[in-house]
Formats: sequence, C-alpha cells, structure tokens
Amino acid sequence: MAELTTSPTAATGAANPATSSTTASPAPGFRSLTEESEVEALPLEGELPAWLAGSLIRTGPALWEAGEHPMRHWFDGFAMLHRFSFDQGSVSYASRFLETRAYRAARERGKLAYPEFATDPCRSLFQRVSSAFTPKLTDNPNVNLTRLGERFVAMTETPIPVEFDPETLAAAGVAWKVPGMLTTAHPHRDRASGGMLNYAVKLGPRSSYRFFLVRPEATEPEVIGSVGVREPAYMHSFGLTERWLVLAEFPFVVNPLKLALGGRPYIENYHWKPSLGTRFTLVDRATGEATGPFETDPFFCFHHVNAYEDGDEVVVDLCAYPDAGIVEDLYLDRLRAGKPITKPELRRFRVAPAAGTVAHERLVEEPLELPRINYSRASERRYRYVWGTGAGETGWIDRIVRADLERRETTVWSEDGCYPGEPVFVAAPDAEGEDEGVLLSVVLDGRTEGSFLLVLDAASLDELGRAQAPNRIPFGFHGQFARG
Ligand SMILES: [Fe+2]
Repeated sequence: MAELTTSPTAATGAANPATSSTTASPAPGFRSLTEESEVEALPLEGELPAWLAGSLIRTGPALWEAGEHPMRHWFDGFAMLHRFSFDQGSVSYASRFLETRAYRAARERGKLAYPEFATDPCRSLFQRVSSAFTPKLTDNPNVNLTRLGERFVAMTETPIPVEFDPETLAAAGVAWKVPGMLTTAHPHRDRASGGMLNYAVKLGPRSSYRFFLVRPEATEPEVIGSVGVREPAYMHSFGLTERWLVLAEFPFVVNPLKLALGGRPYIENYHWKPSLGTRFTLVDRATGEATGPFETDPFFCFHHVNAYEDGDEVVVDLCAYPDAGIVEDLYLDRLRAGKPITKPELRRFRVAPAAGTVAHERLVEEPLELPRINYSRASERRYRYVWGTGAGETGWIDRIVRADLERRETTVWSEDGCYPGEPVFVAAPDAEGEDEGVLLSVVLDGRTEGSFLLVLDAASLDELGRAQAPNRIPFGFHGQFARG
C-alpha cells in the first residue's frame, strides 16, 4: 500500500513509511532494456481526470553496453524515449531508442565509438592524440528534452541537440547550433520570445561561458552575454529571474588543456577545489553585462529549482550537495551494489549584489532532487510549491516529495519496494491554485521488476491512477508534458 505523510520535520525519522523488511531492490532500474514497445491501451487502475490530454515524453539511458563492452556510469547509457499519451481517460505507451550517430556507430562496431560522460572508447595512442585536436562528441541525448515552437528536441551536455518526431519517436537531425563545446540540457523558456535560453562553454586559451537565445524557428543562436573563465565549472543547469541569468559556479572545475589532452573520460577531468568557494554571477538579460562574482561556501548541485528578484536581493533555490561526491555515487557498480547516494537538500540563497553578500538557508528537512515547479506560472517569480523525488533509508530515490515553501512543510508519497522518477507537474485547465493539477511519474516496482506510470493529485499527493507499462523501464532523468 502507498502511504502519505505530511511533516515539517521528516528528517527526524518520524515519517518514513518506505522501509520494511520486504523492500525490494532498485537494482533492476540499472539493467539495460533492449526491447522497444508500442501499446495502445495500458492496463489502468483508478480514474484519470477527463481534462488530462496530451503526452508525457521522457528520455533516459536504457542501454549501458556497446556490444560486449559495459559502460561505467548512470549518465553514460544510450538514450531511449518513452511516451505516455493520455486521451479520454486511457493511456497508450511507446518507446524507442534514439537512432543517433553514437548509437548507430556502437551497434555497427560492437563497441563505443564516441566518449560518453564517464566511459571512453578503447583507443590507440594515435587515436588519442588525433582526437585531442578534433574531439569526437557524442550526440547521445539521454538527459532532457524540450519543445521549441513545433520542434521536439532531446539533449545532453554536448552541443548536439537532436530533433525527433513526437509521433514516431524517430531522430530527425541536429536542431540548432550551440556556441561552445559544452552546454546544459536544462534550458529555460524565454517568456518574451517563446525561445530557449541556455549557456555553453567556449573552450580555448581564453575560455568563457556564453549565454544564448534560440528563437522558436531558428537554427542559429543569438549570444546575449559572455563571462570569461580560466577553469570552467561543471554546471548542469542555471537560474533565471526576470532580469538576470544566474550562474552558480561550483568548485568542481576543469583545466581546458587537460580536458583536450588528458586522455581520461570526460567527467574525470574535473576536480573538486573547495578553496575556490561557490561563486554566483548575475548576467543582465537585456545588456549582457555581468555582475559579480559573489562568493559563498563551496557546495555542488545539478539542479536549480527557481529564482526571482526580491527587492535588492536575488533569490536562488537549488538542490545542494556538500561536494561533488554525488557524481561518484552514480557509477553503476556502486548503484548495482546498493550503496546509498548522498542526499541533497533544498537550499535558498539570497544574493545581494549591492552589499556583495550571499546568505543561505535550508528550506525543508526532507531531501529533494529532480525538482519540478509550475513553470508557466511560477518560473522567475515568487512561488510556493516544488515537487521532486526524495530518498529515505533505502539509500536510493524512493519517494515523491511536495514541498510547501510558505509553510516549510513537506508531503511524501511512498510505496514499499517502489522507486519513482521525476514527478512532472501538469496544471489543470483554468487552475486557480499554483498546485492545482497532477503529477506524472514513472515508477520502478522492485517487487515485480516492472514499471508503471503513477498519476497523483499534485496538491494532496493522493493517487488518482496507475498505468502498467509493458516492460521494466530503466531509471531515466527528465521529461516534458506536451498538451494534446
Ligand atoms: Fe538534470
């Protein structure tokens, strides 16, 4: 049975129903899936809202081998798209590997052809030297996807966003140019143009972070602003307010020359240098001028949650870790062995540019990751609700968390042996409240080694329904809901 708890002090252990002696392991979520599926109507328990029409499309790694060669890290696997479509209370499902250059080459050769996040192809010395001058970049978009105008695009952190057909899930070429070598798979929507804001790292003797806008039909980016950097930080996302692009540079940094010549897998070129602290830089969206950096204690994060201006201060909410050890926690040998991951905390920073100060506080006790908000309503503005995944005593993601930032209170959904993914918020039509709508989450059921799509009321976390997928779905990262 699923359980719900509400608690301002969940970390005390008073509200942790997820553990019991029967708890099944999350390990099946890290096993490769080779089959692609198409099912017209999934077996459904419960009743979905009549207004829920459209598709949840998600990406994530599904295959962690190239031929007989295993990959090493959760972030390495070949991308599969999963689509759950909702129509008049029924749910269909389709899944398909993205036929990218990296995926095709690995299938043809029986080994990896392009370096992934933490796994390199086997290469001769000559190949290593030549690749330093003409780096081969993977186009394996297993991290996130976005809709820009009529285009659907899957992304990773290389500058090769891959367009795909939302009906067939077939890859359809490179979507736009990225002005740099590294980028994020977490762009923001630009409310004014309907375009997409992101940043990229230009590597070279003089490296820089370049912020850019891609308009809905464009393939060429417009560079908005640039900030010079000697050793770029690994930043998986960034913040956005009505005035500022917000960069939080964690002291997990890379020497660009070593990245080119080091001969190590991509992420293993980054080093934790806590003496640098974490530095916030604000880039004016209108002028491109940078303010800062404003230094604070070292920490690491993957995901910004939201940011907004509050008088003279810029509020920046994110999921913080004490250091970059979480990247090491996510190697597959550790995950498959059941080693617990570091728990992130929902933290609020207040950057005061005039005073040059940065203050921070923890918002709720419950750990929170893979954050989602009501973007169309709350992004760049003062807001109240965050949904995400949490981790209890199983050591892995084993719950869905709703955080009320006004009351500093959390509500938790959990079910024994179940491991949910990112909960995507879908607002009800004509919703009045910020939290009026549903959450959609793909859950791995460790008891049956299957997966189901869970639909929760976003305000109460009460279950509305669940649709059984035809196969186990490996743990993925992010997805988006496209209204029908
Ligand atoms: Fe992410």
